[in-house]
Amino acid sequence: MKVGVLGAGLVGATAAYALTLRGSCSDLVLVDKDEARARAEAQDIAHAAPVSHGTRVGSGGYAALAECRVVIVAAGANQQPGESRLDLLDKNAAIFREVIPQVARHAPDAVLLIATNPVDILTELAGQLAPGQPVLGSGTVLDSARFRHLIAERAGVDATHVHGYVLGEHGDSEVLAWSTASVAGLPVAEFMAARGLEWSDAVRGEIDAGTRDAAAEIIQGKRATYYGIGAALARITEAILGDRRAVLTISAPTADYGVCLSLPRIVGGRGVEATLAPSLTAEEQAALEASADVLRETGQRLAE
Ligand code: 2OP
Repeated sequence: MKVGVLGAGLVGATAAYALTLRGSCSDLVLVDKDEARARAEAQDIAHAAPVSHGTRVGSGGYAALAECRVVIVAAGANQQPGESRLDLLDKNAAIFREVIPQVARHAPDAVLLIATNPVDILTELAGQLAPGQPVLGSGTVLDSARFRHLIAERAGVDATHVHGYVLGEHGDSEVLAWSTASVAGLPVAEFMAARGLEWSDAVRGEIDAGTRDAAAEIIQGKRATYYGIGAALARITEAILGDRRAVLTISAPTADYGVCLSLPRIVGGRGVEATLAPSLTAEEQAALEASADVLRETGQRLAE
């Protein structure tokens, strides 16, 4: 059970740390163009292994990715304050054109899990650069976690008992699908009424803004996000390694929309095993189509 992490920056290293603490795999290898950085991160994370699950953690060049079951791709620039994820497209697409063929050459049997932003468009590009290889993007797994966390705070329950999906772009046009949200098996409004808790358009608006703007707010405060995405990447990786058939809002090519975007998907040993079609209101459906339009229009820049 070997996992590779390409890109030993904050996101890649935090994903590796999360995998180590959770004991998700037996072997982990970090690869970065800055080899000294990859080596130092691997060394630091390796020191957590004896007090967690004994994962063997190392670093190396692309050849070290051989026999990985999953390669997490976190290479590339991250957003600066005031920048959107889509603003990163040109520079990160150039990096992908360089690194993905190398990953495909050295780990042809691995599932590629893309985390670099803009994740939807880069998942599509990675699929073109590694034809025939299973490729999926972390998509809105993190946004769905943020959504659940904010509902849970209002409901006063453990967030693992809250469900709800964020769909579409992992970015500003994402869609909080309220009609999929539930707390302890009840629609959110019903749960809040039963508990005598406030539930209104204003509260919903706060949760929407809190989910959609979370990354910008964190980046303003500490220049990057990495703990949330690190844990999300570990969760997705475990679903693949353990053929868990977890339902996660993963980004993948979606014929109905003509782009890669997030929908709830069953994730197992080969990556995306099936795509689910949540029942949405007309308004949510229109917002999802608008989100797909944003991705399509921005993605066209790559073809120009
Ligand atoms: C996040 O949502 C920046 O995409 C990153 O945390």
